[in-house]
Formats: sequence, C-alpha cells, structure tokens
Amino acid sequence: MSSDQDHHSSHPNLTTLNSRALASLFTKIRDRDTTSKDFVHYSKRIMRLLAEEAIALLPTLPYTVITPTNVSFIGQISVADTDPDMVCVVSIIRAGDSLLESIREIIPGIRVGKLWIQRNESSSAKEAVHSCTKLPKNIDNMNVILCDPMLATGGSSCMALSILVDEYGVDPSKIIFANVICCPEGLVAVTERFPSVKIVSCWVDPEMNEEKFIMPGLGDYGDRFFNTA
Ligand code: PRP
Repeated sequence: MSSDQDHHSSHPNLTTLNSRALASLFTKIRDRDTTSKDFVHYSKRIMRLLAEEAIALLPTLPYTVITPTNVSFIGQISVADTDPDMVCVVSIIRAGDSLLESIREIIPGIRVGKLWIQRNESSSAKEAVHSCTKLPKNIDNMNVILCDPMLATGGSSCMALSILVDEYGVDPSKIIFANVICCPEGLVAVTERFPSVKIVSCWVDPEMNEEKFIMPGLGDYGDRFFNTA
C-alpha cells in the first residue's frame, strides 16, 4: 500500500483533507449496515469539509479588515466573494449533485452547470457514457469546481474534464476537481491527461477490485446517497 506522501509526490496538484473528523465519519459511510438516511447525514458532514477545502483552492487576494478591537488584520478574500461571476460549480450527474449542494449551501448564488455521465456497469471496463450537457455561458472565463464524490477508473472525470477543456475552452489550471474518495488508478488517469487540474479528495484508498469498485471503499456513493441500492 502506498502512503499519502507518495500520492502527493506523484500528483503535486493533489490536496487531501487533513481533518481529525474524517476518521469516524468515514467509518460510518464505509459500513455496509449504515442506512441510506444515515449515509446522507454522515456524508453531508464530510462533504461540508470537502466543499470548504475546494472553495479555499479558488484564487484569493490579500485583504485587510479592521477588527472590533480597532486593529487592522491582513487576511485574504476569495474570488467567490470579490468576483462571483468568475466562479461556477459543475456536477457529474448523478452522485455529483450531492456535493454540488454542499457547495451551494456555502455559496448560495453560485452559477451551476451539469454533465450527465454514467459508468456502463454492464461492461467490464465500466467506461463512461455521456448523455447531456448544460453549462453556464462564458464558462471559458471562469474558475470551475467540478464535483463527483468518487474517482475510480477516472473514466467519468476525464470525460467531464475533456468536455470542459477541449469543447468549452476552460483553462485546466482554473479547474478544481473535488471528490470524497479516490484511488491511485483514477488519480493517474486524471493527472496524466490534465496535469494542471487541481484535485481535492478526502481519502485515497489503495486499489480497485475486478469490478472497478474502490477498495475497501464504500460501495456505490450515488446509490447509497439517493437510496437506490
Ligand atoms: C460513479 C461515481 C462517478 C463514477 C466513478 O457514478 O459517482 O461518477 O462512478 O467511476 P469512474 O472513475 O470509474 O468513472 P455512476 O456512473 O455509478 O453513477 P451515479 O452517479 O448515478 O451513481
């Protein structure tokens, strides 16, 4: 099993969350006996942390405020606050909609785009199939937070990134891809094709099984979140 440090040296644009809260929250969502209702509860707590971390990767500017104790404090301000028209969030339907809502709870007016991409579960390669696109106008000028809770083979996320970069002209260095759980194969697939895309993940699991499920993983995130297992 490779260490977290190995993943960061092979993927310099990878950020993993460093929160003590994740250990018990992940145990809950990994447990096959956790009901869909509880899965939603615990995964929302995880996605709130992930959403804040993804938003923190947006560009910032130095910003000085005066505190109530009448001293100045030099901090920073996010482009999401200074220039909200320059930011959008795009979800990979269906599971990505769960994480999209966590972003929208933090930035309620954010522009939203959707890409409907599903894995072909009846094939052995589990290749991604794209069926629908709806993106904000002028997305080629924006910073984009791309949401999908799972990065397994990387087929779905590479297809989404190809649509954003190759078809719509988004600058890959302005894309932040947020996922709850990933594995080395998916990380390699995305970073080889889109090296300047920033990836933020809560957890890197060691491998996939023959069915292309992340191991030990947590099953199918979309089915568990939307209660269709
Ligand atoms: C899951 C997941 C990702 C994809 C990851 O979606 O949400 O989109 O698989 O796998 P990959 O990296 O091998 O492409 P799925 O197609 O099961 O649809 P869902 O969102 O409806 O669950």
